[in-house]
Amino acid sequence: MTVSNSETPAILIPGLLHPRVAERLKSAFPLVELASGDPALLTQEMKAKVRGIASAGRVDAAFIDALPHLEIIANFGVGYDGVDARHAGARGIMVTNTPDVLTEEVADTAVGLLINTVRELPRAEAWLRDGRWVREGGYRLTPGTLRGRRIGIFGMGRIGFAVARRLEAFGLPIAYHNRRPVNGVAYDYFPTLKQLAAAVDTLVSVAPATPQTEKIVDAGIFEALGANGVFVNVGRGATVDEAALVAALSKGTILAAGLDVFTDEPNVPQALIDLPNASLLPHVASATVHTRQAMADLAADNILSWFSQARRALTPVPETAEVTARV
Ligand code: NAP
Ligand code: 8YV
Repeated sequence: MTVSNSETPAILIPGLLHPRVAERLKSAFPLVELASGDPALLTQEMKAKVRGIASAGRVDAAFIDALPHLEIIANFGVGYDGVDARHAGARGIMVTNTPDVLTEEVADTAVGLLINTVRELPRAEAWLRDGRWVREGGYRLTPGTLRGRRIGIFGMGRIGFAVARRLEAFGLPIAYHNRRPVNGVAYDYFPTLKQLAAAVDTLVSVAPATPQTEKIVDAGIFEALGANGVFVNVGRGATVDEAALVAALSKGTILAAGLDVFTDEPNVPQALIDLPNASLLPHVASATVHTRQAMADLAADNILSWFSQARRALTPVPETAEVTARV
């Protein structure tokens, strides 16, 4: 793809990013790599030349404001809570994310994590590897089972729906909570998260981190789920009151939890690590060669399309859907 403008825009990559993004962009643009999205690291030359950012990390208002010619921020990931998209939109800067290409992979992981959590499969494997099957006999019968469970999805969006389709095929009833019911979806809708939690015993969260969802999964939600309750989170850690979750797992308020995401990644509270009824993954829901490559391609294609004759982004986030390219 050829770049339309006479002066070739520079693209900034702050922090670690999948290498394929740079590989796809380097023949069309000068690339600038920076340790992080810290405005203090920007030189005058960078400020003069950078018109795009490709990032998997934090891009805050101060960093956006430090780049006067910035036009587009391509976020590697469908969740873009690390980018101040509202601020970018107000400044006429496009923000894109990577929806759809990771949906099925993340849904697969969510179901795997749910089964691991309920049936204790990682602990059963450790039992075998530690030689305990030989020495002590078979692994214990698990108190948890998927049989008879009622599933509640918090965040019936692209990934939530893909999780629901899978679990429906397992023979389990599905209900959900969003801010509004989804047209054409027949699953039971609950207008509050608390009502959903009270109606089910298994809550799968695929909700984004926003000011409205911060710590929304709290002690009251765990009490509503009840003693047979299972909580699985593949959305964002910021949506959970982690101290309340540790208390709920310790006291038996709920049975178990499966977590792929945490409040302060990669730092996972020791109290969670110590709990036998928590199944923990290091944010791997989309982490396959196949899917991360597709995400990298979509992030790069957004920048290539923006600076092509078309001058349009492929997957803008809602906050910047109305942003158009400067002539
Ligand atoms: P999506 O299609 O936008 O779905 C998000 C859903 O959350 C929507 O149905 C939305 O419905 C609901 N929602 C948003 N704010 C809400 C609120 N305040 N209260 C109740 N419901 C709310 O996004 P997606 O592609 O499915 O991705 C969802 C999230 O998964 C991402 O934002 C990301 O944080 C996370 N994720 C994690 C991984 C991982 O590696 N663990 C990978 C991919 C994605 P309404 O707008 O109707 O409320
Ligand atoms: C990635 C994710 O691990 O897409 C998301 O929202 O959380 C994951 O797919 C992450 O974005 C990589 O930076």
